[in-house]
Amino acid sequence: MEKMLLSYIFLILLAHPFYVSPADTTTSNGNKSIFILAGQSNMSGRGGVVNNIFDWYIPPECQSDSSILRLTKGLSWEVAKEPIHQDIDYYAICGIGPGMSFANSILKNDPKIGVIGLVPCAIGFTNISQWSRGSLYYNEMLNRTLIALEGGGTLRALLWYQGESDTLNVEDAELYESRLQKFFTDVRNDLDAPYLPIIQVALTTTLGPYKEIIRQAQLGIQLQNVKTVDANGLKVGPDYVHLSTPAEVQLGQMLANAFLESGSYTAH
Ligand SMILES: *[C@@H]1O[C@H](CO)[C@@H](O)[C@H](O)[C@H]1NC(C)=O
Ligand SMILES: *[C@@H]1O[C@H](CO)[C@@H](O)[C@H](O)[C@H]1NC(C)=O
Ligand SMILES: *[C@@H]1O[C@H](CO)[C@@H](O)[C@H](O)[C@H]1NC(C)=O
Ligand SMILES: *[C@@H]1O[C@H](CO)[C@@H](O)[C@H](O)[C@H]1NC(C)=O
Repeated sequence: MEKMLLSYIFLILLAHPFYVSPADTTTSNGNKSIFILAGQSNMSGRGGVVNNIFDWYIPPECQSDSSILRLTKGLSWEVAKEPIHQDIDYYAICGIGPGMSFANSILKNDPKIGVIGLVPCAIGFTNISQWSRGSLYYNEMLNRTLIALEGGGTLRALLWYQGESDTLNVEDAELYESRLQKFFTDVRNDLDAPYLPIIQVALTTTLGPYKEIIRQAQLGIQLQNVKTVDANGLKVGPDYVHLSTPAEVQLGQMLANAFLESGSYTAH
């Protein structure tokens, strides 16, 4: 009886579309390419969300793949599926972000990369002070990354898309450059990855008035191995606040190209 029950459970597990066979998990655990995703809502993903309802349109570029895993809020790996930030950025309705498009694009261009481990950490409406060393989100990001690495793998890059919340007042805008520089340096130090590749996104239009100061800070950053892709020209959705699904797909591909072009795959 017990045996029957067990084999029944096993069959259910096998039939589950997101079940990763033990063999897959072993290879993936050995050598994942790990990416941290952090910042605000555009990194978390609001593509396809209108009036707090996600349309559940998942473009082909964002489909799940057994080689793309995601670290859940509960700190376990699962095959990633959109919206990949929902359990992390849980106070909001999440939609399509750049993460899945990024990962699929990397796999397509570099099939030998093996298993990709995404570590979603972005939280909507956060300013850079909320990401400063010792803050809650900073600690959670660090914790999640260290736990991701324990399963085996190499930290490949931090993808960072933030700044909108710092365009609201002039003091925050003027302090942004030094805060950003410190944030990147702290993350690298605390992860013991002094040359960790960082790919950031420069904002375009913003709600706050001090967009240009933030953009100048982003574009002017003087740190090795920091690449910037420009969101200029990417379309925002009907809310005028967040990138649309096609724009997030495109952004993911831009981030992937920046990563692949950098040719620097390791953090040391
Ligand atoms: C991990 O993967 C990289 C390429 O993606 C390869 O160079 C390296 O040898 C692999 N390491 C192990 C332990 O398999
Ligand atoms: C950043 O956001 C937090 C939470 O909304 C707020 O308390 C703080 O005043 C904001 N700005 C700075 C510079 O910390
Ligand atoms: C980080 O992880 C440690 C050990 O698992 C835990 O005690 C701590 O509360 C975590 N901190 C955060 C901010 O998640
Ligand atoms: C999302 O990104 C677009 C393009 O950079 C920008 O105009 C918008 O302000 C961003 N929204 C938020 C909330 O960060």
